Amino acid sequence: MKVLIVFAHPDTSSFNYALKESIKLGFTDSGCEIIESDLYRMNFKSHLDRYDYPSWDKETFRPDEAAIKASEDNSHAEDINIERQKITESSVIVFQFPIWWSNCPAILIGWIQRVFGYGFGYPDPVLRNKKILISCTAGNYSAADIDIRIRSQLSSFAYMGAEILPIIAVSPNNTLTEAERKQFIADAYNIAKGVAGNLSS
Ligand SMILES: Cc1cc2nc3c(=O)[nH]c(=O)nc-3n(C[C@H](O)[C@H](O)[C@H](O)COP(=O)(O)O)c2cc1C
Repeated sequence: MKVLIVFAHPDTSSFNYALKESIKLGFTDSGCEIIESDLYRMNFKSHLDRYDYPSWDKETFRPDEAAIKASEDNSHAEDINIERQKITESSVIVFQFPIWWSNCPAILIGWIQRVFGYGFGYPDPVLRNKKILISCTAGNYSAADIDIRIRSQLSSFAYMGAEILPIIAVSPNNTLTEAERKQFIADAYNIAKGVAGNLSS
């Protein structure tokens, strides 16, 4: 079983990175194959524009129409095709990120907006039979607050047919003791193992 991990944090010494590595280990220890999209290290382009649709040749740019045309003649930018292939191959998609202004980092929002669209998302729900595991950290929001806000921000995944698993919400990240951090990292490992176990049983 393949698991795609989409990671959106600029620093590889961050707590987010440690959580991501722990989740990754939980899945690999359960026999899963990991595919990664480390958005900052990939320098993933985070804004949607006409260059995402190389066959769009009109002077004006209509994103909806360009997406339909690109879907019909299979002509999206190559970085979009690569991400789509990773999603297609995966049974589980993990997102690891810090909450910034009640939302995901812009690079992750851009990944969602550029990768999904007409023909890959809807009208056929492309995430049907896939599970989404969201793991995020916040400076001061409560875990309940994180759940409400992020579930709402990322509701498009449910629209595209995915099952959203219980969110791993780490808070308040900025005041955790070292022992609490270690516990969150261990919990993330166990949650990943649990998800993998449920899928294979
Ligand atoms: C631009 C920015 C916006 C932030 N907005 C929020 C917020 O809306 N709510 C919150 O609880 N924490 C907020 N934070 C705090 C981050 O969530 C916190 O720094 C992060 O979870 C720490 O993770 P790290 O140690 O892996 O970087 C914000 C931080 C930054 C830099």
